[in-house]
Amino acid sequence: MRLLVENIAELVGIRPAGVERLCGAEMAELPSIRDAWLLADDGRIAAFGPMPVPADITADVTVDAEGGMLFPSFCDSHTHLVYAGSREQEFLDKINGLSYEEIARRGGGILNSADRLHETSEEELYAQAMERIREIVAKGTGSVEIKSGYGLTTEDELKMLRVIRRIRETAPLTVRSTFLGAHAVGRAYAGRQSEYVDMVCREMIPAVAREGLADFVDVFCDEGFFTTEETARILRAGAEYGLVPKIHANELAVSGGVQVGVAHGALSVDHLERMDDEAIEALRGSRTMPTMLPGAAFFLGMSYPPAREMMRAGLGVALASDYNPGSSPSGDMKTVVSLACIRMRMTPAEAINAATLNGAYALGLSHECGSITVGKRADFFLTRPMPSVAFFPYAYTTPLVHRAFLRGREVVA
Ligand code: NIG
Ligand code: FE
Repeated sequence: MRLLVENIAELVGIRPAGVERLCGAEMAELPSIRDAWLLADDGRIAAFGPMPVPADITADVTVDAEGGMLFPSFCDSHTHLVYAGSREQEFLDKINGLSYEEIARRGGGILNSADRLHETSEEELYAQAMERIREIVAKGTGSVEIKSGYGLTTEDELKMLRVIRRIRETAPLTVRSTFLGAHAVGRAYAGRQSEYVDMVCREMIPAVAREGLADFVDVFCDEGFFTTEETARILRAGAEYGLVPKIHANELAVSGGVQVGVAHGALSVDHLERMDDEAIEALRGSRTMPTMLPGAAFFLGMSYPPAREMMRAGLGVALASDYNPGSSPSGDMKTVVSLACIRMRMTPAEAINAATLNGAYALGLSHECGSITVGKRADFFLTRPMPSVAFFPYAYTTPLVHRAFLRGREVVA
């Protein structure tokens, strides 16, 4: 199937093939063509250029962008979007003054979601998650990572990962799966954290690997959750089965999580609300993508990661939604881009690069998506007409994502 899009006011995020990620000052550039067309063939970007469309280009379907812009789809490299129900009671607790850590200590938080997940059938979990998938696809996401971590028993972790596999097989977007058994200590192991970690390494990881259910392994490495030593053990156990680390680090404290991640070749270290010079230094020259989740910082009222400092140090940074019921009940990447501009002083170009190509890198998919490049998947969205690219994050609640296309086909919500 050949799809032609014409009358694109600005075709945004054009890159030559082979650009894996953008670092430091490179992030400020967002190459584009004004008044453009784009051709997708068999699900991939086949050609593009300035209007008029050359006479020899033919298509099965022609779409008029009607003066809207075309952006590469968002690559959301960190979510927990398979979960049961919701946790607005904790939202009220927070309004009444409790902190995220206090809620967790009282048995709320992640353990609350684990209880609900245990009682919910795989079918129901899938149905709830697919509603969220439909929502984020309509908002412009084309690739997404989804974590387990609300199971916390072998059986329930496998249940979650099977739901993620089913989403991967049935949803129009590209899905990557992460095993996060070490999200919290399961209730049956209360007070026996080290035994729980043993179980994650000896029982859960081999069981997950046996069914080929995960691409990545994650650990919530932070104060009050898992230590750097425990994290290292889990990452080593994952490595034996080819699971690449992507870890939660430095959300609640300067925890050494960044350094552990880098030392184990993590593809990304995520959160980073608390950073110091050593953590930034550890990232320099590494393959690890620092990934920021401003939706969580916003929702929990935390400080934001030092994005400018990291880019000044020459690092590339990625942005993701952290879509989850406790700290970020939203998968809206446009809002994430706006928050990055408003609260972390990223320019619109930097934030869009962080949410597309660098997000693709953090998913291990930058050869496949994240930019307008011949040969990549034809994953993109059209906006409503806008005066400039900067208008996109500026108009931070206006629904500017108009039509979504994945693998060269329009996705109708
Ligand atoms: O990324 N920080 C750890 N995990 C999630 C929150 C999970 C939850 O509260 O349910 C996060 O913020
Ligand atoms: Fe998270």
